[in-house]
Amino acid sequence: MSNIENVEYGLEKIFKDAKDFLPLLGTDYIEFYVGNAKQAAHFYKSAFGFQSYAYKGLETDNREYASYVLKQDKIKIVLTTPLNSKSQINDHIVKHGDGVKIIAIWVDDATKAWKETTSRGAKSFMSPTIEKDEHGEVIRSGIYTYGETVHLFVERKNYKGTFLPGYQKWESEYNPEPTGLKFIDHMVGNVGWNEMNKWVKFYEDVMGFVNFLSFDDKQINTEYSALMSKVMSNGNGRIKFPINEPAEGKKKSQIEEYLDFYEGAGVQHIAVATDDIITTVSKLRSRGIEFLSTPPDEYYKAVPLRLETHNHKLKEDIDTLKGLGIMIDADEEGYLLQIFTKPVEDRPTLFFEIIQRVGARGFGAGNFKALFESIEREQEKRGTL
Ligand code: FE2
Repeated sequence: MSNIENVEYGLEKIFKDAKDFLPLLGTDYIEFYVGNAKQAAHFYKSAFGFQSYAYKGLETDNREYASYVLKQDKIKIVLTTPLNSKSQINDHIVKHGDGVKIIAIWVDDATKAWKETTSRGAKSFMSPTIEKDEHGEVIRSGIYTYGETVHLFVERKNYKGTFLPGYQKWESEYNPEPTGLKFIDHMVGNVGWNEMNKWVKFYEDVMGFVNFLSFDDKQINTEYSALMSKVMSNGNGRIKFPINEPAEGKKKSQIEEYLDFYEGAGVQHIAVATDDIITTVSKLRSRGIEFLSTPPDEYYKAVPLRLETHNHKLKEDIDTLKGLGIMIDADEEGYLLQIFTKPVEDRPTLFFEIIQRVGARGFGAGNFKALFESIEREQEKRGTL
């Protein structure tokens, strides 16, 4: 059932084609602009199991905004809220609601990263800036990507403090158990009609990425709606950004619903990796995270064949996976287990994916139909299908 065979695929191609003018070490952090960072931080701690890590605000003599940094294994998220009506952060929240503003990437040389990308056409968000405290210095620079979203380049090789200069360590008496989230697997952007190829070209030309998977609207559709997607990756495969655009269908594409409510292009979902999805999803469910509805029985009946076709054996118990609503997809290299949350704010915009890879390097193409039918059921309830 997997569409993987039909698409251009192969990491070998990435290593051959990716340009090395922009070496990236990994995701550094993700910063959200939110209406109430204190309360959002409580949600990410309680529900997702993130740990208190660093803080900046009035107590650290920052009068403009407050930022809470949370950590779980390699994942760092920053929740930022303005402290007065004049801050430009307000404009972002008024327009988009709570959402991802910054995807920060860890680099060895933030000055070079900025020069290489802006000389290739990127619009600058922040020229290389040195920040210092008693623990050393960090250099950050940044460029705009789709919508009002930003990539910051973070050079921290000369820094030994907590997070960034200007932040203090955040010690809390409330420390809920982690849920097994390990690292960012990929982050997906939704862009406007006919804009996918423009942004594919941006990642190719400006950041040296390559397109290693493509899905057209004939592969990603249901009876009612459709979308197109291309997966961009950097040379070492540590950063993967799929880009979606809506496609015409009988009813409204989920991408169009996002664009309507986010009022423009932005981050659609953050996929986080776990090495034990059954435990992770059990914990998340017990802490109130809501997931899309479980696929129907026929879906789970088809799973053994999907695995057999590729000669893989499922280590997990299929009834347990079904009980938790976890989906399974397979390709030549292995299989993957994945599940999607409902949007985590009131506007139907950003959501999370939990993914466990057992060899497979795809994105669950074989699950797209079941997934999108589930999303359509939610759109129907919202009156946006
Ligand atoms: Fe995904």
